[in-house]
Amino acid sequence: MIIGVPKEIKEEEKRVAITPAGVSAFVSHGHRVLVEKGAGLGSGILDRSYDGTGATVADSATEVWRQADLIMKVKEPQPSEFPFLRSGLTFFSYLHLAASEEVTRILCSKKVTAVAYETIQLEDGSLPLLTPMSEVAGRLALQVGAWCLQAENGGRGILLGGASGVRPGKVVILGAGIAGANACQVAAGMGAYVSILDVNPSKLRYIHDILGGHVTTLMSNRANLEEEVVDADLVIGAVLIPGAKAPRLLSRTLVKLMKPGAALVDISIDQGGCAETSRPTTHHYPIYVEEEVVHYCVTNMPAIVPNTSTYALTNATLSYGLEIADKGLPKAFKENGALARGLNIYDGKITHAGVATAFGLALTPLKEVISG
Ligand SMILES: NC(=O)c1ccc[n+]([C@@H]2O[C@H](COP(=O)([O-])OP(=O)(O)OC[C@H]3O[C@@H](n4cnc5c(N)ncnc54)[C@H](O)[C@@H]3O)[C@@H](O)[C@H]2O)c1
Repeated sequence: MIIGVPKEIKEEEKRVAITPAGVSAFVSHGHRVLVEKGAGLGSGILDRSYDGTGATVADSATEVWRQADLIMKVKEPQPSEFPFLRSGLTFFSYLHLAASEEVTRILCSKKVTAVAYETIQLEDGSLPLLTPMSEVAGRLALQVGAWCLQAENGGRGILLGGASGVRPGKVVILGAGIAGANACQVAAGMGAYVSILDVNPSKLRYIHDILGGHVTTLMSNRANLEEEVVDADLVIGAVLIPGAKAPRLLSRTLVKLMKPGAALVDISIDQGGCAETSRPTTHHYPIYVEEEVVHYCVTNMPAIVPNTSTYALTNATLSYGLEIADKGLPKAFKENGALARGLNIYDGKITHAGVATAFGLALTPLKEVISG
């Protein structure tokens, strides 16, 4: 199979879909890989790093799209890429089709087969191609939170790790899932006082088991939440109710009660945010001050660390890409249920219920496609 890796062209997107190690894996399985010139630059990967792996570095996006059977990208097709979509092409990337009727309709009308990173789902319900980005966002929350606390950004001028003879800062993490647990590990490693709240006791037990006495684990209820938040230097919002808006845990009144110059990093902002005062920001203008609290509410946090994010993402996507290339369609879907759940559109027919429902379009049962 010919695998194409175009350069990402969406604003603020600097990741690339396959690293040189990933290219080597495809080549060793007998496939050909075309990487667009400069595709890795945003992630610090030079063209010559791809050269040595057996990839062909192509001069233009047109060359990559025209020859590829399978396009691997990070983001959904952009309008300038629509003319490249065609019947027989398999497209594999983050798609979020239920949020974009335009992209859904164009993929259908061009009879493309589209597999979405975010809907690949294991038997236990987990989403293996979303996990790495939650991990990155959780770890990054401490880095940006520490920056928010610096005086020139409106923060309290607190160093989270403290100094000898000086108390460390207090970090309060809401949600002990993937992002929250990763934030917790980094906060504890920095030497901050850390408390973490969740409604799920098994999530708290896991944190308690791995970090022991370095972290205080608390059930998330009104009393605990208020007591912790008003005493915090940095609050990190990392809550999620799957398929719903983030729960509003911090009312404006509670934010007002926080210390002046405290910081709130609301990772859950991509699901609406966990504070009444949260509103989406971008990497160009990541923070604003409201109720004397520095808010950081960037919806695509991993984009600011494209090198790490590229490696974390491609570690997770590679095996699925290889399976599609090795087995072809529909065999790959037949033999891997997780991958089949990632199929959103097959040959122009919508196979994902969420996407069909979102726009009132016809749904073709997955079974029909897989057995075909
Ligand atoms: N901003 C970004 O760039 C970015 C990047 C990656 C992920 N995210 C978002 O971060 C959020 C967390 O993702 P995740 O992968 O860690 O999810 P997750 O499902 O692993 O964890 C969410 C946790 O929130 C807990 N929770 C739910 N209601 C709660 C409540 N009332 N109080 C306390 N805890 C509660 C759940 O029990 C769960 O443990 C999601 O909204 C995700 O979309 C944002």
